[in-house]
Amino acid sequence: MKLLITGGAGFIGSNFTFYMMEKRPEYELICLDKLTYAGNLATLTPVMGQSNFKFIWGDIADRTAVFELFEGERPDVVVNFAAESHVDRSIEDPGIFLQTNVMGTQVLLDACREYGVGRYHQVSTDEVYGDLPLDRPDLFFTEQTPLHTSSPYSASKASADLLCNAYQRTYNLPITISRCSNNYGPYQFPEKLIPLMIANALADKPLPVYGQGLNVRDWLYVEDHCAAIDLILEKGRVGQVYNIGGHNEMRNIDIVKLICKTLDKPESLITYVTDRKGHDMRYAIDPSFIHKELGWLPETTFEDGIQRTIRWYLDNQNWWEEIVSGEYQSYYERMYGNR
Ligand code: NAD
Ligand code: DAU
Repeated sequence: MKLLITGGAGFIGSNFTFYMMEKRPEYELICLDKLTYAGNLATLTPVMGQSNFKFIWGDIADRTAVFELFEGERPDVVVNFAAESHVDRSIEDPGIFLQTNVMGTQVLLDACREYGVGRYHQVSTDEVYGDLPLDRPDLFFTEQTPLHTSSPYSASKASADLLCNAYQRTYNLPITISRCSNNYGPYQFPEKLIPLMIANALADKPLPVYGQGLNVRDWLYVEDHCAAIDLILEKGRVGQVYNIGGHNEMRNIDIVKLICKTLDKPESLITYVTDRKGHDMRYAIDPSFIHKELGWLPETTFEDGIQRTIRWYLDNQNWWEEIVSGEYQSYYERMYGNR
């Protein structure tokens, strides 16, 4: 079995690569990644020399390069993690989000058609459903919830999902789609809430909470997401969407306070800043379908996962200190300098 993993040098893609190398050592894995600011080849060091792993540098939106790769490698299965993934960056400059997330997906789908790939799996997000109100805790996103996007990022992800469905219906391409809630864990780029707060707290820098910090996200430990995707590849039904989430809703402010407490830092570091434009209030996944159909359940509690994550950032300061010293500095200045 030859598996092409796109975006494997990013947060979830690298965790998925490690997960599959251990769980399915008989598979051959190929990672295609453009190594944008969010991709880090150093992350893949543990698997780089292994005989069943190959890294290929390239852009999923580069049709010639992608078709050459498929011609040479003939993958059986494609899992597409490659994306521009940060909502704030999409608000600043949507163009690259459409290019990678929509056009890149189309190129991959075309290549899968041309080379008769056995399964194309699209890694999507709960953000395609828009948001839920804070005063209706009884409401959840199901696979039937209409798409209703808020940011250029989520609009690009929803567009890609629609393209996948269209290729399935029109060309009979064997696709599956998963829509997961917020992930956390090792190797997450420090622009995202949890690693950003850990890195800033360790440096005694202000902790920039958007608005009043009351927005709710539904957090899932990254390894549980990887296990769900593996299960969908193995047993999932072609043409099906699977929501992935662990019923773990938290307010942003409570997460930031928990990080302060764990790192023994004062809450006075918390700084309330101008809210994100179009900020989604609440995400909450109903995961009952994937549980019923495939037997998936998350294994890591938030209490355990957040402690493991904070420990990982403490033990791997080199990994993220290199990142925060580069392009990230000018991004941080643009995003938070005058907020
Ligand atoms: P990330 O930003 O950490 O990693 C993205 C990776 O894709 C990077 O390695 C980057 O170099 C690569 N990439 C970007 N553009 C590319 C291109 N044109 N060609 C090839 N490679 C390219 O993202 P992540 O958080 O790991 O998210 C991975 C996927 O999961 C995304 O599709 C995202 O929408 C989805 N998702 C993320 C979350 C989350 O909480 N992080 C939750 C649900 C779904
Ligand atoms: O729900 C899945 C999505 O989760 C994925 O599709 C996205 O790729 C991923 O980035 C994530 O999107 P969010 O916008 O929810 O994640 P982020 O970490 O950017 O923000 C989480 C919450 O924290 C959100 O309500 C905004 C808030 N926040 C974020 C940052 C970076 C702050 O208050 N301060 C910050 O500095």
